[in-house]
Amino acid sequence: MPVTIRPAKDSDAPALGRMGAALARQHHGFDSRRFMVPDDVESGYRWWLGKEARRPQEAVVLVAELDGEVVGYCYGRMEGVDWNMLLDKHGALHDIWVEEAARGTGTGRLLAEAMVRRLTELGAPRVVLSTAAKNEAAQRLFTRLGWRPTMVEMTREAPP
Ligand SMILES: CC(C)(COP(=O)(O)OP(=O)(O)OC[C@H]1O[C@@H](n2cnc3c(N)ncnc32)[C@H](O)[C@@H]1OP(=O)(O)O)[C@@H](O)C(=O)NCCC(=O)NCCS
Repeated sequence: MPVTIRPAKDSDAPALGRMGAALARQHHGFDSRRFMVPDDVESGYRWWLGKEARRPQEAVVLVAELDGEVVGYCYGRMEGVDWNMLLDKHGALHDIWVEEAARGTGTGRLLAEAMVRRLTELGAPRVVLSTAAKNEAAQRLFTRLGWRPTMVEMTREAPP
């Protein structure tokens, strides 16, 4: 059975909460000082992604479905000019997650390509994303799909 990509609906909120929390915990594992994980991370994602999914002219929340089960999601939105970043109006891909059992079969690619198509329809001249320095699997995916490296974020803790 092929994976299908579709816009998220209200009944996807629990799955979105679970996957969003997993994404946050993964990042916390990469660098626990830089990437926060609030106590209520799962309910926070459930609320936030559910809310964003109800604003289809500004935000895009897609899910990947396999055999009737949600196995991944991708969240992006239109962003305005950011002078500090020297970044004109653009689409931003903020989150992408594929459940471990479904990885390595093209689901991530389908989600990312569908996100680019939808953000382009909404008027984005380009799609910008950030990926953790240690996240080599994600960097391979994005590079393969045509993203180029454009910024390097660096973090220094305050002196004691
Ligand atoms: C990054 C992530 C979304 C990729 O999802 P995915 O569904 O595994 O992506 P794909 O299947 O499209 O590609 C993954 C690999 O499978 C390979 N692949 C894709 N389709 C394939 C197929 N039909 N047969 C065999 N291999 C295939 C790809 O070549 C790729 O290989 P690589 O590891 O050498 O790059 C996933 O690993 C994930 O959810 N990671 C945790 C969350 C995360 O890191 N998100 C990014 C935050 S910025």
